Amino acid sequence: MSHLVPSPTPRLAFRRMTVDDLDDMAALLGDPEVMRHYPSPKTRDEALGWIEWNERLYQEHGYGLWLVTLRATGEFVGDCGLTPQEIDGVTELEVGYHVRSDLQGNGYATEAAAACRDHAREVLRAARLVAIIRPDNRPSQRVAEKIGLPFERAAVSRSGLPVRIHATRL
Ligand SMILES: CC(C)(COP(=O)(O)OP(=O)(O)OC[C@H]1O[C@@H](n2cnc3c(N)ncnc32)[C@H](O)[C@@H]1OP(=O)(O)O)[C@@H](O)C(=O)NCCC(=O)NCCS
Repeated sequence: MSHLVPSPTPRLAFRRMTVDDLDDMAALLGDPEVMRHYPSPKTRDEALGWIEWNERLYQEHGYGLWLVTLRATGEFVGDCGLTPQEIDGVTELEVGYHVRSDLQGNGYATEAAAACRDHAREVLRAARLVAIIRPDNRPSQRVAEKIGLPFERAAVSRSGLPVRIHATRL
């Protein structure tokens, strides 16, 4: 199993999410603070759809967004991982992250995203990694920069919103 999820970091562990995680995921994705750069927070039903989307990704690709917990306590932190995303007609591998609002600012997203970048390079042998980020989402842009994905170009998302593409060769 160990090769199926990123290696643990000093503070964080990864595992696949399941429907048993619905309470935690619905609280995360239903939090207006966490979802402030999205059209709206997700309902419990939409959070279930998010988990099922990731379960399909694990099946089809062997990766997706993983559940992140604190190693010291087992406490739920959020999700972080790798998903295929189409941008400008090209399917890219994206690193994504959501951290519980009361745990933000502790470096957890950076630590988790760095482990996912290493997993993409060393286990998946991916050649390129991107992050697709709304122009006003500075915290997310900082996380991308800190894990070695500098700004590459401006683009428009599939839903027609302006985005900034951060990217690197792996
Ligand atoms: C983006 C997110 C995952 C970062 O999580 P985190 O664990 O707080 O991130 P880290 O602590 O590793 O680093 C955050 C960086 O953003 C900076 N930051 C945090 N809040 C900020 C703000 N309001 N304005 C500017 N920078 C901010 C931090 O200072 C830090 O950068 P620094 O090292 O230069 O100081 C978190 O803010 C989040 O869940 N946001 C909502 C979901 C989201 O937007 N996900 C990304 C979609 S593309």
